Amino acid sequence: MSQKQWPSWLPLRKDLAALSPYGAPQVPAEATLNTNENPYAPSPALVEAITKRVAHVAATLNRYPDRDATVLRAKLAEFINEQSATSFGVENVWAANGSNEIIQSLYLAFGARPTLGFTPSYSMHPLIAKVVGVDWHDGGRRPDFTLDIDVASRQVQQLCPALTFITTPNNPTGTKVSLAEIRVMAEATKNVEGLLIVDEAYAEFDEEESAVTLVNKFPNVVVVRTMSKAFAFAGARLGYLIANPELVEALFLVRLPYHLSALTQAAAEVALEHRTELLATVSKLIDSRKKVVAEVEALGLKVVPSSANFILFTGFDIPAPQLWQMMLDRGVLIRDVGLSGYIRMTIGNDAENKKFIEALKKCLNGEK
Ligand SMILES: Cc1ncc(COP(=O)(O)O)c(C=O)c1O
Repeated sequence: MSQKQWPSWLPLRKDLAALSPYGAPQVPAEATLNTNENPYAPSPALVEAITKRVAHVAATLNRYPDRDATVLRAKLAEFINEQSATSFGVENVWAANGSNEIIQSLYLAFGARPTLGFTPSYSMHPLIAKVVGVDWHDGGRRPDFTLDIDVASRQVQQLCPALTFITTPNNPTGTKVSLAEIRVMAEATKNVEGLLIVDEAYAEFDEEESAVTLVNKFPNVVVVRTMSKAFAFAGARLGYLIANPELVEALFLVRLPYHLSALTQAAAEVALEHRTELLATVSKLIDSRKKVVAEVEALGLKVVPSSANFILFTGFDIPAPQLWQMMLDRGVLIRDVGLSGYIRMTIGNDAENKKFIEALKKCLNGEK
């Protein structure tokens, strides 16, 4: 994409002028496998339950919502406690419009010193930092995309970051960091009076124990979660974090008044009440991932080990942007994540996965 030339009358901040907005292509395709969404739409029963609750809330839309989203946060705490045998309360949880807003709030509240991440990882970590004027550094990864914890802890010691980001399972690679390694990073960041932000957007797809189990011992550990992936609730925009109550209180300083609409809060509460049904898609997607990995490998390609609902693969001799276009021409939208020689696909439903494999086979064989 060529860089936009902004008109001189527009007093745009100089540090923003060279940026491109976040923009995973939203184009029609028979199989949309590019943004790590859950392919399973809400059941008719859930749609009805959400509609009923939203109708109830609609009658009060002349009033501002609960700006502390107390009921929703209590339900989120209950869900985490159920999953991780913890005993968090509403005071440990903060919720916002997607985990992107959570990440932005963390930068706004705590980004006075440099921040650190390890790429390739979630591209919005550095981009949101830039937008809010926070200094962001890249610690890098091993060539196989795993994180070298010794190197990472040394970087923490040297840079003294206010925030250090670890994404596990990592997007776009699917690789994971063990809880023991996170503990090492929790210690390293604590020693420099910094926060360790563990982005667990895909945690439900991984059998590893969540870093929420470290929060009581390490008040500097913050775990960011979302309802966009495992909960199949991306359209509702609900992200949250689990942290020490004092850290949550500090976030009240930077949140916009009434940032989370009454409609969002109501819909998310209903989704949490239906969590058993929604989370049933997780094991289905893990099984599908195993199947897709085997099929991609059978085509002679190499898949990076994934603990998430997507895979990153390599071994094709077509440039990734070209393969992306060839797949789209065959009705399958996947993601060129800007890593030379690699491309990412989100696990879809059975029909979408089948379509993906058929299209990939054709692309590799140069067939129409
Ligand atoms: C690692 C990671 N964190 C956060 C997000 C943002 O999710 P949302 O804003 O939908 O909660 C994503 C989305 O793809 C992600 O991959």
